[in-house]
Amino acid sequence: MIVKANNIYKSYGDLPILKGVNLEVNKGEIVSIVGASGAGKSTLLHIIGTLDKADNGEVWINNTAVNSLNQKKLSAFRNEHIGFVFQFHHLLPEFTALENVCIPAFIKGESKEVAEKRGMELLDILGVSARANHKPSAMSGGEQQRVSVARALINNPSVLLADEPSGNLDSENAASLHQLFFDLRDSMQQTFIIVTHNEELARISDRTIHMRDGFISV
Ligand SMILES: Nc1ncnc2c1ncn2[C@@H]1O[C@H](COP(=O)(O)OP(=O)(O)OP(=O)(O)O)[C@@H](O)[C@H]1O
Ligand SMILES: [Mg+2]
Repeated sequence: MIVKANNIYKSYGDLPILKGVNLEVNKGEIVSIVGASGAGKSTLLHIIGTLDKADNGEVWINNTAVNSLNQKKLSAFRNEHIGFVFQFHHLLPEFTALENVCIPAFIKGESKEVAEKRGMELLDILGVSARANHKPSAMSGGEQQRVSVARALINNPSVLLADEPSGNLDSENAASLHQLFFDLRDSMQQTFIIVTHNEELARISDRTIHMRDGFISV
């Protein structure tokens, strides 16, 4: 098991959002999370991704209890084990595609040579190597999203977490991004947890988790 969320509780003020959520994901699995707006999907994803803390419960990633890590260890762990892709790509505008992709590797302490070699490989796999020296503003939305997937993958994370990754793409670009996720799973056993409103993606996932009233069901 690569991800395990154990009895997760989260409230905002008096409002309970997660009321004891349990989720286990195996290596190489593609799990989608669906549910109404406000159901707590992003909240759960952020807690699993260590960007937010649960009020109660534990998150295990690759056999590490992330709750037990101090701030400094947690930042390093997040950088090396968790890849994020958001609805809006969050690429840094002043850097090129390749530089954006390499940043998590530089933070990890990789040399420029090693990081850029792996970065170019990923851009190639994702079909955007011709855009390596372009800044985000000179790329299409679909290209920017592929670059953000490459950035999420550069440190070979234990899990890639995506929050409506195709929410901002037209149907053709969305379908091709989804296909890419399955290709990456087939070629490198990459694990994905994807929050999505896209019914087609939910349908083709290995497993779909429904969030409602603070609980999940399959
Ligand atoms: N920082 C916060 N402070 C207070 N309330 C919050 C905070 N973040 C989220 N919430 C509330 O928690 C609930 C769940 O939010 P969340 O973003 O997890 O929903 P979601 O399922 O991702 O919805 P969507 O599909 O619209 O993205 C919402 O009612 C939201 O208003
Ligand atoms: Mg959300």
